[in-house]
Amino acid sequence: MTAAPSPSYDRIVELTAAELRERLPEALRIYVDAMGYPPSTAQQRGPMWAAHMLRPGWRCIGAFNDADELAGVGYGYLGAPGQWWHEQVRRGLLSTGGDPDSWLADYFELTELHVRPDCQGAGLGEEILRRLLDGAQGARVLLSTPEGPTRAWNLYRRVGFGDVLRNYRFTGDPRPFAVLGRPLPL
Ligand SMILES: CC(C)(COP(=O)(O)OP(=O)(O)OC[C@H]1O[C@@H](n2cnc3c(N)ncnc32)[C@H](O)[C@@H]1OP(=O)(O)O)[C@@H](O)C(=O)NCCC(=O)NCCS
Repeated sequence: MTAAPSPSYDRIVELTAAELRERLPEALRIYVDAMGYPPSTAQQRGPMWAAHMLRPGWRCIGAFNDADELAGVGYGYLGAPGQWWHEQVRRGLLSTGGDPDSWLADYFELTELHVRPDCQGAGLGEEILRRLLDGAQGARVLLSTPEGPTRAWNLYRRVGFGDVLRNYRFTGDPRPFAVLGRPLPL
């Protein structure tokens, strides 16, 4: 049996908000390609990603190949009352008898994690996730992802994420989502 080749990326680094802003069109292209969304989604998401950069605890990791192209990106920030996602998850926990006060106190929201489709399947997503959470603030990390099975599911389960909510419908999206979480550090 031959070992799978290890991915080789020139740089997997923390990006400042200014650095991500400079790379935003490239990062959003990865996002729409990886998620299979129509390209117009990038225009809607740009201002949202820019607003997220201003939130406390924001942290971003980018991976670059040897041609200095972005191959993957992940970011998140400290969740807080009043944020759309926080309130949606709170509503879900209340309606299912969960305990919002314990889950939603002091957490890092893993907001986006995407790897360019031609670079997927070689461990890069896990490396970005580990680097991102390595320096993240918060007692736990929470995220939402469309119900699986997907490569994202494999990754989150592999690193120990458990169920917070299952088959949850966020306002405005007909797809069922899972909200997953685990304590920090990883
Ligand atoms: C989810 C996502 C970020 C994961 O990134 P990835 O680089 O593809 O995935 P991983 O880091 O988990 O690695 C993928 C596979 O490579 C394997 N692998 C790990 N290290 C490896 C190595 N050194 N060499 C070869 N393969 C390796 C893993 O076992 C894994 O196998 P599996 O997917 O069959 O379980 C990426 O697939 C993606 O962008 N998907 C679409 C967008 C999305 O769903 N984002 C998450 C939204 S919440």
